[in-house]
Amino acid sequence: MYSLIRALLFLLAPERAHRLGMFMLRLLGAWPALCQRLRSRALREATVELEVTVAGLRFEHPLALAAGLDKDAEAVDGLFACGFSAVEIGTVTPRPQPGNPRPRLFRLPEHRALINRMGFNNHGAAVAAQHLRARQWHPAPLGVNLGKNKDTPLEQAVEDYVACVDGLAPLGDYVVVNASSPNTPGLRKLQEPEQLTALLRAVKERLERVAPGKPLFLKIAPDLTPEAVDEVVDVARACGLSGLIATNTTVARPFEHPLAKEAGGLSGAPVREASNAVIRRAFQRSGGALPIIGVGGVFTAQDVYEKLRAGASVVQAYTGFIYEGPGMVRRIVRELGPLLARDGFRSVREAIGADHRAPSSR
Ligand code: FNR
Repeated sequence: MYSLIRALLFLLAPERAHRLGMFMLRLLGAWPALCQRLRSRALREATVELEVTVAGLRFEHPLALAAGLDKDAEAVDGLFACGFSAVEIGTVTPRPQPGNPRPRLFRLPEHRALINRMGFNNHGAAVAAQHLRARQWHPAPLGVNLGKNKDTPLEQAVEDYVACVDGLAPLGDYVVVNASSPNTPGLRKLQEPEQLTALLRAVKERLERVAPGKPLFLKIAPDLTPEAVDEVVDVARACGLSGLIATNTTVARPFEHPLAKEAGGLSGAPVREASNAVIRRAFQRSGGALPIIGVGGVFTAQDVYEKLRAGASVVQAYTGFIYEGPGMVRRIVRELGPLLARDGFRSVREAIGADHRAPSSR
């Protein structure tokens, strides 16, 4: 069914298809009873073995929606109806901004990939907050992913993140500092230890004031060197973070393609291995003590399973959802259990980080 819808949607320019998809999800959200029915159907085969708890948040199964699809929190109910175990909104910036000039989103179906340079196009923290306040249905965790405005100098970035914490942290179940979008000039510099420490300390301090105890995550790039991943893990732990989200899109172009020269972040299948490498390294560095939400190139239950084994506790998808459609969640929930059982795992929890344990233990 979705292959037909996708064929039609893919006839449209990518951003137009995105707007149409969002319109349909918003529309769906106007029927709460239908959303609840669809969610129950998507999760009919979810068993207690698929449940994971991270930083006190309960995920019914390991597949959540990544940030960037619903920047303004306008289709959260429709997205929960698809069955995701969590939905992350944003990236939200303090003030509204239009993002980069179009075209800024490109499909590479041969590689099951997208390139985007959206540039945090969003309506600002106040509008996202208004949408979140209007929510009546809270079936699963909701994350708020925060960033800085393009015209805020990097030296003042902390103020932007803190302003977003004030406006949005009380309305979400967890908070994400996004320091890894390649489409806001200089943003990734915030991942360097000194700046990162200052940023995370300030955000954490404010978070403890406005929403005490709420989990805080940092989203990182797949383009960090292994040593840089170690540094980020150390800083994250020193600042008392709840975990990492690994990873954002990559600036690498591991293939030739007429669109490969387009500036922006590459997502989907080609980022999977780079993302898994970062997950593996981060898990190793913390000895499994710092939870990881894995993201990058997830399309199938096998992709989820690989990320769990590499060290992720929960997994997110964006590009996979565009290519596979809403049936993706139900399919993965159905297929993940047998994959775990095949290798002798009785639950998702047992599989987390399995690649790092001696083969004799599994
Ligand atoms: C993204 N992503 C993203 N991430 C983020 O933290 N804030 C954002 O605003 C966006 N925006 C965004 C727009 C588009 C069009 C895409 C494709 C992606 C990154 C996304 O959440 C995810 O980390 C990467 O895309 C890798 O996962 P997938 O897409 O391979 O599943």
